[in-house]
Parts: sequence; structure tokens; C-alpha cells
Amino acid sequence: MGRIAQLSELVANQIAAGEVVERPASVIRELLDNAIDAGATKIDVTVSGGGLTRMEVQDNGCGMDEDDLVLSIIRHATSKLRTMDDFRKLHTLGFRGEALPSIASVSHMILRSRVEGHPGGIELRVTGGEKIDQAPIGMARGTRVTVEDLFYNTPARLKFVRSLQTEVSHITEVVTKRAMAYPAIAFTLKVDGKLTFLTPGSGDLTSVFLSLYGADVTKRALAVHGVRPDLRVHGLIGAPQDARTARHAMWFYVNQRPIRSQALQYAVIEGYGTALFKGRYPLTALFLEMDPALVDVNIHPSKLEVRFSEEQDVRDAVTRAIQAALMTGLYIPDLSEKESPVDELLQLRERPHDDAYLSKQLAISDADGVDRMSYSASHHVQDSDAGGYESQSREGEFRQTCQVYTRVQSASSSPSTPLGAELAEALTRTPAREQTVSQEPVDDLQDRARLRPIAQALTMYVVAEDDEAVYLIDQHAAHERILYERFMKMAGAGTTQEQELLVPLTYSLTPAAFLRVMERITDAKRMGLVYEPFGEHDLVVRAVPLWWQGIPLDRMVQETIDTFLEDEGADQKTWEKRVILRACKAAIKANQRLSMMEMQALLDELSTLQNPFTCPHGRPTALRIGRDRLEKEFRRR
Ligand SMILES: Nc1ncnc2c1ncn2[C@@H]1O[C@H](COP(=O)(O)OP(=O)(O)OP(=O)(O)O)[C@@H](O)[C@H]1O
Ligand SMILES: [Mg+2]
Repeated sequence: MGRIAQLSELVANQIAAGEVVERPASVIRELLDNAIDAGATKIDVTVSGGGLTRMEVQDNGCGMDEDDLVLSIIRHATSKLRTMDDFRKLHTLGFRGEALPSIASVSHMILRSRVEGHPGGIELRVTGGEKIDQAPIGMARGTRVTVEDLFYNTPARLKFVRSLQTEVSHITEVVTKRAMAYPAIAFTLKVDGKLTFLTPGSGDLTSVFLSLYGADVTKRALAVHGVRPDLRVHGLIGAPQDARTARHAMWFYVNQRPIRSQALQYAVIEGYGTALFKGRYPLTALFLEMDPALVDVNIHPSKLEVRFSEEQDVRDAVTRAIQAALMTGLYIPDLSEKESPVDELLQLRERPHDDAYLSKQLAISDADGVDRMSYSASHHVQDSDAGGYESQSREGEFRQTCQVYTRVQSASSSPSTPLGAELAEALTRTPAREQTVSQEPVDDLQDRARLRPIAQALTMYVVAEDDEAVYLIDQHAAHERILYERFMKMAGAGTTQEQELLVPLTYSLTPAAFLRVMERITDAKRMGLVYEPFGEHDLVVRAVPLWWQGIPLDRMVQETIDTFLEDEGADQKTWEKRVILRACKAAIKANQRLSMMEMQALLDELSTLQNPFTCPHGRPTALRIGRDRLEKEFRRR
């Protein structure tokens, strides 16, 4: 007698369930995907006992008729795919026909569904994958799936479930991630009878961001728009200061499917560049829209990982889109708390139970939320050189601004000197203000040139004003930023000039360090740092980059050697950037009194920078307190 027999449908389903249904959150994920694929505009999720006791997902989608409902719990039965050709053009989240049978095989499940035009719905009760009852019921169009006693018949799996709270947090993550991808669907999540999350379904991404991160973060968020012929990158990203210490808030979607991708995380972090502290991860809700044929979604059982056929291209596009968003959308942190549509939306979150209030707020959120983002999209113009990205409106004006900037900046490209001397030197140049004054202000970059110094506070902050606000400027952060941009410009100029040392510097290194430093001898030469081996492990430095002038040389050489040791394998560009960061640190002086003239020079030069509002390490350089806020604080209004 043969030893081989076909597994029963039930056993096969339970085995498949091991992959598909890892924990309660996997059930929610699959049920949400089905509701979304069914075209729902409202999805309500209810959970109790960490999802183990009961989970329910109700939608107002297309529903299933009696035949389909019965088929839906049969393995490999799907309405979403017929041939492999369909798979290549896939636009639905589901495609395997495995989710419902897998869930049904490890729980008590009740499916209720009604299609448009049918007088009533059908209820199907399934236990451990076996249909036990089927009956007509009255219900509205859509589907409601209830899953009770998950893993009741697979005790081994139950053991792997962590605390109920952990499971709830996984479920919340699944729901919020889906909600972000589908702002036009109104989601609610109720956990143990309490409404914990809701989105208005207004179609506006900002409203979902707000539901998740609150008003302050949302007000500071930046819109990303990058379009190339074969790829669209869009979404919202948090300001550098709102970055988190872990990656959990970096969300990515490919064709609206939430995915995990280290490659995209790197691409985003690269896009933020020095605006971000090391070890900080920005909030992102980034959407990639591309031809489904260029991305494989079938490499992971829970469909979380994807493979791009042109990964490097995708990475570059993301980095550029982030850079463009940050370049055009940087702001000064504003202490003025103006009432804004975002505040109103926020109240929605705080008072979700009041229905009349809710519908009023929903009406507002729709128009206002969209307004806000479209404002930032059209107001902040993209760099038209960003590799084929579609530039937004006002391109001409932006170019004009760029020209002014180039002029001012090239005037300032002189080697660095200590702060006082440098400011004095800055004063001998034509102030940026005069160059821009003849032009209509084309964006707020130029408005900044009108800052007037009032005083220096605590030998650290320049107090300044324009017609509408008072500013506190961290003089050292600002100076560091000025030096950084200047050095970057000089280093990026291509031919780096070197300065020969009258007295060569010698260093004694450990054998390992010596080897690494020697490996980098040509990279260093390209930057203007010339050295050679001396004796067994010693190093003699003969020339340094010209732009190091005014920076303590000994310290710079040490710092540069450190970058060789720390950034093993880093490419030339990354490494140079690191050296420049260190140079900026080495060049600025702590606690220094500034004269009015020096302060004015600092403000003027700051106003010419590409990114005046964060120092190279991502700290803010300036705070703004608006007239409104002052009037409010002093009860003048
Ligand atoms: N909420 C729903 N509304 C309407 N139809 C549904 C719903 N849920 C499931 N279905 C139908 O049942 C079928 C089976 O669902 P199931 O989730 O098992 O497979 P799938 O979604 O096709 O693929 P996958 O296993 O990748 O999720 C679906 O193809 C769909 O036709
Ligand atoms: Mg499915």
C-alpha cells in the first residue's frame, strides 16, 4: 500500500493558516484587505480580548451572493485572479484565495454578506473550517466577518501570542497603516468597547496624519511630490524635529499596499541628509505608484515585502523627492499658535462620540485639509532640476530666486576665518538685503533678509525682528550652518585646492588605523589632504585643503583620521560631508559677544543660505514668535 495520500482540505488549510495567520493582527489585515478590495467607503473594526476573544470587520463594499459566500471559504477560490497574466497586472490587495479559508480553519467564524439588489443577506457559520450553518438574514449592503476564539484548535500557536496589549498594538498598527493608504475610506477601530481611532474618510491624507500624530506634528509636516514617467512618489513627511528614535513610523506603500523596505528607509534618510540627527528616523507616509509589473509582491507570505526590478532607480527617486520637499518646504519653528483647520480637525479626534458635531467637522475637514496641503504644494516650488521631476507652479519665480542666491553665495565663498573676523569680512560685502530689495519678494526666503538685530541674549542668542515677529537665533547653530554651506560649496567645486604646510605634521597610528588611513590615500588627495607613510606606522601630512584655513589644523587632521576609522567603506561623497561637519564644529567658537554689526552680518548671511533653519546636525537655528502670539500672551486681544 502506498504511503502517500492527499491532505484533507481542512489539514491543508490549517497548515496554510500557519503562514497566513500568525497572530490576531494578521486576521485584521486580511479582513481589511478584503473590505478594501470590495470597494468599501466605510470600514468598522471591533476587537475584544486582544483579538483572541472576538474580532469583527464590517464594510459597506460590494458584498457576496450566496454562491460566492460559500466559495469564499474554499481554498484557492478567488474573484481577483484567473490567470498569471492577471497577476502581472494585479490591482487588488488579495490574490491567493487563502485568507478566509485559513482564518476559518483556526477559529469560529461568522460571515454575513449582502450584495446590491438582493432583498436580503446570507449568514454562514463556520467552525474549524467546517460549515455548520447557512441562513438568510436582513442586513445592509456589504460584508461583516466575525472571528471568535482564534487558535482555539491550535494550542501551539496560541502559546506564541504575546500579551493582549501587544496584540492590540499590532492590530492598531495594521488598521492605522491601512487608513493612511486609503484616506477616502472612513475607518473606525473599537477596542474593548472604546473608540480608539477614527478617520473621516475625506480623501485627504492630512486628516489621517492628524488622527495619528496630532496637530503640532501635522502642521509641520511637508508634502512630497515627485513624478517621473514610470514612477510617482508622493505623501507626507514629518519635520526633522519630529523624527523618532526608531524606524517604526517610517511607512511605505507600493501601489497602496503597505510594505516594509530597508532600501526605502535608507533612501529617505539620505534625502533628509544633515537635517536629521544620527539615529533619528523621520515620520513618513510615502506612496510609490508604479507599473505592477515592475514590482513583485509575492515574495513574502504576509505580502509585506516586495522586490523592485529597478531598485536603485526607485531609491534615487525617493531620495530626490524627499530632498525637494525639504528644500522647498523648510520653515522656521513657529511659536505662534494660530487657529487653523488642523485644530478643528483635531477636536474631531477628541470628541468622536458626538454625531452632530462629527458630521459638521467632517464637512470642514474635507475642504480645509485639502486646502492646506495644496497650499504647500503650490507655494513651495520644486527644484526643476530634480531629475525629471514635474515641477510645480511658479517655476519661473523660483528660478529668479535661485539666481539671486547664486550671486550672493559666490560672493561669500571665501575661506573660513574665526567667527569675529568672518563676520567683519561679511560686512565688507554687499549685504544680501540690498541685492534683493529691488525685487518683489518672490517667496519667504527673501523676507528673511529683512531681519533686524535688536540685542544679544545670554551671549548665545541673537534677538531680531521683522515687521511681524520676533526671532531668537542660536548664533552658534547659525554660524555652523553658514560654514557648512560654504564648505560644502567649496568642496563641491571640483578642483580642490591644497595648501602646502611649511612644517609637516606627523602622527603615530596603531597598525590597524595606519592601514585604513593608507587605503584612503587617493580619496584624501582628491580632497586636498596630502600625506604619506613615514616609518612603520607613522604618517606625515604635507598639505591640507585650502578651505581648512582658519580652522585648527591639528584638530582637523585628527578628526579626518577618525572619519576614516569610523566610516569604513563610505564613499568619497559621504566621507567628505562628514569631514565638513567636523570642520564646522572645529571652526566655531563658544560663547562670544557680538556687536550689532556682527549680528546684522550673521543675519544677512543666514538669509542667503539654502537651508537657514537647521544647523548641519538638525537642530533648529531660529525660533519665531509672531505678533499674534505676543498679543495673545499679553491679552491685548
Ligand atoms: N469583505 C468582502 N466583500 C466582498 N467580497 C469578499 C469580501 N471578503 C472576501 N470576499 C470574496 O471572497 C474571496 C476570498 O477571499 P480571500 O481573502 O480568502 O481571498 P483573496 O482576497 O481573493 O486572496 P488572499 O488570500 O490573497 O487574500 C475574495 O476573492 C472575494 O471575492
Ligand atoms: Mg483576501
